[in-house]
Amino acid sequence: MSFLQLLEAKRDGAALSEDQIRSFVKGVSTDTLPEYQIAAFLMAVYFKGLNEAETRALTLSMRDSGIVLQFQPDPARPVVDKHSTGGVGDKVSLPLAPLLAALGFRVPMISGRGLGITGGTLDKLDSIPGFSTSLPVNEIVDFVERIGCAMIRQTEEMVPADKRLYAMRDVTATVPSINLITASILSKKLSEGLDALVLDVKYGEAAFMKTREDAQKLADGMAKLGNACGVKVEAFLNDMDTPLGRTAGNWLEVVESVECLENRGPDDLRDLVLQCAGRLLVLTGREPDLDAGLAKAKACLESGAPRTKWIELLEAQGADLKAYEEKLKSPIQAFALPLTATKSGTISSCNARIIGEVVRDLGGGRALKDSVLDLNVGIAEIKKPGERVEQGEKLCVLYARNESEAAANAERTRSAWSIM
Ligand code: URA
Repeated sequence: MSFLQLLEAKRDGAALSEDQIRSFVKGVSTDTLPEYQIAAFLMAVYFKGLNEAETRALTLSMRDSGIVLQFQPDPARPVVDKHSTGGVGDKVSLPLAPLLAALGFRVPMISGRGLGITGGTLDKLDSIPGFSTSLPVNEIVDFVERIGCAMIRQTEEMVPADKRLYAMRDVTATVPSINLITASILSKKLSEGLDALVLDVKYGEAAFMKTREDAQKLADGMAKLGNACGVKVEAFLNDMDTPLGRTAGNWLEVVESVECLENRGPDDLRDLVLQCAGRLLVLTGREPDLDAGLAKAKACLESGAPRTKWIELLEAQGADLKAYEEKLKSPIQAFALPLTATKSGTISSCNARIIGEVVRDLGGGRALKDSVLDLNVGIAEIKKPGERVEQGEKLCVLYARNESEAAANAERTRSAWSIM
């Protein structure tokens, strides 16, 4: 069958065979399929969907388009990771990787850049002086075996098919397809050679999936397929109506992550970090149930071991520790504008979408794929729903490149809060 016939078949809703899907992915990763045919294929999938067997074939052939990491067999140190479908203020990966390493796991954490209003772990790590997330595959494996974790970007050699397809989806309006999202996320995670994976699937204002129902569908599909591919996967839902923690913006989120590693900082962040670790302890059979998993993760966080592991990780990946400690102690290198409440009352909502848009527009996120970020800007000291404020009391502090950009974003930022 020619590729044109394959396209016609998908356009008309037929199910494709594993071989047909493999030939599509081969054409993508070897750059032999013209972009217009890839675009047509993606749009046909967007409208007609893929069945379970097709989604599995797409996921596995994308995984196999590059290197799959391999670790020494060691049942006492399972290889694990977490993936979040993205949000505002979501810095869970930063404290979680060293916590998992301190719990004895091996964590090859491949992360992404932020796009649009959704922050990305790589951008946060880029705000740490000297820290490098570009590591060759042999170093990734070595760091994970030795330290217990590595926080890295996808290399050229890993899942090249996803890199090309994701770029095409971005410009052909085909990102929000549950089948394509499933294959994209799982192909990358399966290339890490994992034993177990937790998926933090977000729903709400600032999430990919606006409704709980859609998020549940995505969560169920990914968990089922991941398990069928031999990785123990658990997906759980979390709302993204409100920013996570009290900061949004790259360096600001590193500071808050360090607080979490010191067993301080916001409860919602610490709870989600512990949930991810607790679930992985249960998934890998190291604890009998979630209560025991949470207790073990909490005790480990309180012991200070993850904070020590964090420094080990920074040092291994080239951070200038002196400059980093100095930056941690110094005021934020941006113009600070406190925003205050115009009336007294209890906060009923703080809209994560608005907060994410402001951070992006301040220069902390990408309006275009190649936008250069200002890693110091953002919003901190965010007051959260359920908290009481008096008129004139601080709702947050806006950090901007200069006074005029702060002033230009002040009213929109304030509109994120509803006070009853
Ligand atoms: N994240 C990914 O890696 N891929 C998607 O398709 C969506 C979110």
